[in-house]
Amino acid sequence: MMDKGSGKNVIILGAGSGIAKGVARALAARQFNLILGGRDMEDLEVSGRDLAIRHGVRTFVEPFDAADFDSHPTFFDRCRALVEPGQIDGVVLCHGFMADQKEAERNFHLARKMVDVNFTSAISILGLAANYFEERGSGFIVGVSSVAGDRGRMSNYLYGSSKAGLSAFLSGLRARLQKRGVQVLTVKPGFVDTSMTWGLPGLFLVGDPDAVGESIARAIERRRNVLYTPWMWWGIMSIIRSVPEFVFKRTKI
Ligand SMILES: NC(=O)c1ccc[n+]([C@@H]2O[C@H](COP(=O)([O-])OP(=O)(O)OC[C@H]3O[C@@H](n4cnc5c(N)ncnc54)[C@H](OP(=O)(O)O)[C@@H]3O)[C@@H](O)[C@H]2O)c1
Repeated sequence: MMDKGSGKNVIILGAGSGIAKGVARALAARQFNLILGGRDMEDLEVSGRDLAIRHGVRTFVEPFDAADFDSHPTFFDRCRALVEPGQIDGVVLCHGFMADQKEAERNFHLARKMVDVNFTSAISILGLAANYFEERGSGFIVGVSSVAGDRGRMSNYLYGSSKAGLSAFLSGLRARLQKRGVQVLTVKPGFVDTSMTWGLPGLFLVGDPDAVGESIARAIERRRNVLYTPWMWWGIMSIIRSVPEFVFKRTKI
């Protein structure tokens, strides 16, 4: 590992995800040191070495299971210890789980897993980060939510409602932390070309994970609150949100 980053340290959660890899490349290019948290250690080690060699930043890997809430305090402490005497400057939550809607309608455990991974885990791990940054009076938190959280659609409302919970959580966190100078960015991707969407029917305007990662890094620099990415999803979701409920409930989307 090479050691000439900006001195700023960012934790990426779910760092093996397609979008996380795009974010990691964009942040490493900006000289952030990275702690890659996730479950596939072999994959993270390879990514970490690649980023360190390409960008001359420090990279670390730490096992992180979003659904193992009790392990989160120790995970966060381990991350802090890794960068000592430096500090953690940002946390980017990328992990997520989307089950088949039809299957989840009949399997409560599957539906609950989506809520646990997409929503409850954020309350747990970002809650720790929020308390840490609040005390310090600086830092940033990024939560990768989804356009699916903007309105419950028949075809995807179980995943969508877990993301709606995440978006609402991030919105409240932003209001709580803004007076301490802490940025909270809600990212709402449309369709992105990753393993989550691989082989799904009906995809359109599919974004590239590197372009999405770059847009997230720019939004952090500009201290944005909410980012739709690719950008045209802002317009699409404005239209979808404006359809009256008595019409919307008859749609098949
Ligand atoms: N792709 C899209 O079109 C799209 C659109 C809107 C929002 N999003 C959101 O973007 C984020 C990134 O997804 P992606 O598209 O990049 O998909 P992805 O490549 O399938 O990534 C999902 C990641 O979540 C991780 N994960 C799942 N359960 C976990 C757990 N219990 N603990 C730790 N990690 C866990 C997976 O790790 P393992 O490899 O260990 O399973 C995987 O790295 C997700 O939050 C997703 O909901 C994606």
